[in-house]
Amino acid sequence: MKANIVLLPGDGVGPEIVAEAAKALKAVATRFGHDFAMTEHPVGGAAHDLCGDCLPDATLAACKAADAVLLGAVGGPKWDTLPPEKRPERRALLTLRSELGLFANLRPAKVWDALKGASPLKDEIVARGIDILIVRELTGGAYFGKKGRSADRTSAYDVTPYSTHEIERVARIAFEAARRRHGRAVAPQPGRAVAPRPGRAVAPRPPKVTSVDKANVLETSRLWRETVTALHAAEYADVELEHMYVDNAAMQLVRDPARFDVILTENMFGDILSDEASQITGSIGMLPSASLGAAKGGLYEPIHGSAPDIAGKGIANPLATILSAALMLRHAVGLAAEADAVEQAVSDVLASGVRTADIASPSGASSAISTSEMGDAIQAALSGF
Ligand code: IPM
Ligand code: MG
Repeated sequence: MKANIVLLPGDGVGPEIVAEAAKALKAVATRFGHDFAMTEHPVGGAAHDLCGDCLPDATLAACKAADAVLLGAVGGPKWDTLPPEKRPERRALLTLRSELGLFANLRPAKVWDALKGASPLKDEIVARGIDILIVRELTGGAYFGKKGRSADRTSAYDVTPYSTHEIERVARIAFEAARRRHGRAVAPQPGRAVAPRPGRAVAPRPPKVTSVDKANVLETSRLWRETVTALHAAEYADVELEHMYVDNAAMQLVRDPARFDVILTENMFGDILSDEASQITGSIGMLPSASLGAAKGGLYEPIHGSAPDIAGKGIANPLATILSAALMLRHAVGLAAEADAVEQAVSDVLASGVRTADIASPSGASSAISTSEMGDAIQAALSGF
């Protein structure tokens, strides 16, 4: 199959990790006989340095025309002093999300078998299983509401608007995802159907959505809760629904993460909770994301950002980007077996003990491999040698 994929390396570690994901995609194309046309376009601070705009028209047009977009990261100290609306985060990332209509951000957070020891949580908590899908609303709330300062600049506001339409469409994605996950065992092997070992029953996971809000304080949260409850009653009564305040959710994520299946929440809460979820799984360098809208396609990116402190050192973990490429194959291009193969390659490479610095045990840190060596290992696993 032919697919037109736009690569947006961006800033910081972005170019290093996107190069490794491109390697993995090439290996998939060769192994499965596909034709992936991959074209790179400037975005973020790198684009600003090139042409004075963090999201050049040509880049946006290429993204709109593509089958899928794979983004590294944008932003860094060099561009922190730009006016807010010109900064990479707002001009590039937030504009891309809204222009492409990407209202749902899927952030799967799970503990990989080989990385159980990397979680900072106690063994008995990890043993209960951590396999969470965060569905974050991505084009509403405080990120996109009216913002400003008083004339004397001593007070400021960021309005957090939400409409029933915005809440319903992202809630639907969460309920559908919960249904698709139904029947999965607690802590399944990545990319593999659940096959209980003989004589050992694996408890299937009933589909469950935890809708996270702050309905004890915020009016938008009360609308959120009402809307999710009504949609659930009308269309998704087979899925278990619970509501949870965001402060409690932050606590439960470290106390008892196994209680979560799908977490549905608004833009800002989802930003915060997904970083927390990444840490309990071991490393933020392992978490991919898919940003989806009504149209096919979407934007795929690691959740970790540009990490300027380690940029250019060749030590960033490319696996979150490689796993984002797997999500892209599954959601944008409809290649499920190919996506499974990439996830299996990650699982196999981790099982063989290969580690970048962020996931190496403290004693083995000196033997940690580089970004490109990790990319080579994935490429080799995908190529079958
Ligand atoms: C993320 C990032 C972005 C966000 C920043 C870079 C604007 O933290 O994708 O989680 O807050 O959405
Ligand atoms: Mg974030």
